Parts: sequence; structure tokens; C-alpha cells
Amino acid sequence: MIMNDTLKAIMERRTTRKFKEDQIKEEEINTILKAGMYAPSAHNDQPWNFTVIQNKDLLNELNKESKEIAKTFPNETIKKMGHNEKLNIFYGAPTIIVISGRENAMMPQIDCAAATENMLIAAESLDIGGCWNGIVGFLFDSNKVEIYKEKLGIPEGYRPYYAIALGYKKVKITKALPRKENSIQYIK
Ligand SMILES: Cc1cc2nc3c(=O)[nH]c(=O)nc-3n(C[C@H](O)[C@H](O)[C@H](O)COP(=O)(O)O)c2cc1C
Repeated sequence: MIMNDTLKAIMERRTTRKFKEDQIKEEEINTILKAGMYAPSAHNDQPWNFTVIQNKDLLNELNKESKEIAKTFPNETIKKMGHNEKLNIFYGAPTIIVISGRENAMMPQIDCAAATENMLIAAESLDIGGCWNGIVGFLFDSNKVEIYKEKLGIPEGYRPYYAIALGYKKVKITKALPRKENSIQYIK
């Protein structure tokens, strides 16, 4: 297989769930955000909006409130997460970026996912750990969404989807679980 720095970051990126407490540098965050903004988007809409949160009280509140919603889910795994007192859904990461999409764009959820993956790969290339966080999305899907749109300063017409947690890695994992087979067909 061909290997270069880009492919190495893609292959070696693993979800980080143990973060160091120290804050990542502003230049690193700005670089990661820029990588997100250079993702492809349908109609070149660039319909993303990013909220960088480093305020510990707000992070604790998002953790607590997201778990409250998770408790009400029928899915047992999610419900269990909600009831897990010890679980910090952001795993102590010092920076969270909430990703929101412009609701009247052509394909905002897909565009935002592309931006999110760009940011995770960019973080890996800087040896910064990242974790895509879907649990906070339960809160954004709940009837409390307007409260959090206001608290997070999300512009009118945008909807928050999910977040990424970022920070220096406490534990470095590079080994991926085996890839599932039979996911490619060639038609030549
Ligand atoms: C849409 C999405 C939501 C996710 N939500 C969470 C989450 O809430 N908490 C978490 O620990 N990991 C979350 N993950 C990370 C996945 O669990 C992880 O990517 C997967 O297990 C594969 O591991 P890897 O990223 O190390 O390759 C999420 C990933 C995606 C793509």
C-alpha cells in the first residue's frame, strides 16, 4: 500500500477517550477549524458553524444534561451511559467544538460530517486526540435545544448536530479494529 503523511494520519487516527488536562494551543485549534472549513460541501454551501467551548461549567452542564436525555432512551446501551455516574461524555477533554449546520442548505448534515472528519484527521496530524461525540446530539435533538442554541450563541437558522472533543492524548492508541470484509464491489 502507498503511504504518505496524509494517509498515515487517516490510518492512525483513533478515537481518544483519555485526555490530558492541559489546554491545546490556540494556533492548533485554529488550524483544526480551518481544516474543517476546507471540507467539500454540496453546492459549495459551506453551511457549517463551529462553537469552541472551553468553559468547564458549561462542559459539565452539557455532560450532565446529555446524560439526563440518554436515560430516557429505549436503547439499553444509551440508557446505561445516561445512568453511568462516572462517565464524562467528553472524557475530560479541555476543548469541545460543537458543529452546527445551516438548516436551509442543500445537505447540511453531510457537509458537517465531512468537516468533522477533516478536523479529526487534522488533529491527528498534530498529535492531538479527538473524539466524535454523538451523545450531546441527544440534547440538541431534545426540547431543550433552544436553551442550548442560545447558551452556545448558535446563529439563527443553524442547528447543532454533535461535537468533537479535543485535547492532548493521555494514552496513544494507533491499532484499529479489523475492517469489515465485503464492503467493496468493483464493476469494470
Ligand atoms: C457519528 C459518530 C458519533 C460518535 N459518538 C461517540 C460518542 O458519543 N462517544 C464516543 O466515545 N465515541 C463516539 N464515536 C466514536 C466511535 O465510537 C468510533 O469512531 C468507533 O468506535 C471507531 O473507533 P476509531 O474512531 O478509534 O477508529 C462516534 C463516532 C461517530 C462517527
